[in-house]
Amino acid sequence: MTVQQALRIVDEDEEGIDNAFRRDVLRGLSEPQKAVPARWFYDERGSELFEEITRLPEYYPTRAEKEILRAHGSDFRRSIGAGRAVVEFGSGSSAKTPLLLQAIEPAAYVPIDISGDFLRASARRLAEKLPDLPIHPVEADFTQPVTMPAEIEGVARLGFFPGSTIGNMVPRTAVDLLRDMRETLERGSPDGHPPLLLIGMDRIKSRKILIPAYDDAKGVTAAFNLNLLTRINRELAGDMPVDAFRHRAIWNDDIARIEMHLEAQHDISFTVAGRAFTMQAGETIHTENSHKYGRRSAAALLLAGGWTPVDRWNDHESQFMVILAEASPLRSAP
Ligand code: AVJ
Repeated sequence: MTVQQALRIVDEDEEGIDNAFRRDVLRGLSEPQKAVPARWFYDERGSELFEEITRLPEYYPTRAEKEILRAHGSDFRRSIGAGRAVVEFGSGSSAKTPLLLQAIEPAAYVPIDISGDFLRASARRLAEKLPDLPIHPVEADFTQPVTMPAEIEGVARLGFFPGSTIGNMVPRTAVDLLRDMRETLERGSPDGHPPLLLIGMDRIKSRKILIPAYDDAKGVTAAFNLNLLTRINRELAGDMPVDAFRHRAIWNDDIARIEMHLEAQHDISFTVAGRAFTMQAGETIHTENSHKYGRRSAAALLLAGGWTPVDRWNDHESQFMVILAEASPLRSAP
């Protein structure tokens, strides 16, 4: 994937991406705790910087998840079985997908992404790698229920949501998404074959590992965070003093999440889209949450979203987990 597609939510179709960005930024800067949704990190430069983050020695999640996908092919094959349609939510470049597809002999692959160009280019690349696999790309915003292509009507499904993108969402939003995914997958599923979901989630671990992963020595994550201000200045006619801000990565232990903030180093005032704002020294703009989970908190989140965990795999250092869940039967008791 690349998260940029995953995190684009709501109303772009109705109001256009520029208006959605302006609305989110102006609203977020007007709140007592200033905040901008993380999905706005991913302009072209932001996407490049994120790719660079995934290659940093301190940033373990991408490597750990790839290790799991590579190491457990035969387990996936056993637990998932052959012949399912694999539906990837926010497929982006589909970088991790071949590892899964080669392992489980799926009937079809349905990448869903909001960026049609990206989607078609990566589908073409994948088709070269796996010429016998039917691929049916769907250009859509998967944060709402998506209509599946007619070609997979009556075919059992496996949802695939790698990358710990779910971690960027607060539990309420994450649960909404899990429920929507279930609805997307359930329509047109054959009787007796409830949908499965294979989802990547980052594990709770020591601050000594977490903080450097989000505040690396080379300053790539800092540049990624600060790039949001450059984007605001460019796209929303802003004059935010980028040099007055410092990148901060904080571990919120009560909620088990990394928070990224941009902290004003001294009192400042600026305008964005014609509106004036002030910040005092030490005040922050909250730019991202990255929730981490344990076995039970992951289960609680999935269950709340209508999914029962059935299998789980860790990398060799137990830094990351990939969980297989099955759509929970709808019943009233017990
Ligand atoms: C793409 C959401 C998984 O939370 O680790 C990386 C984004 N932010 N470094 C994460 C991110 C700062 C990343 N996700």
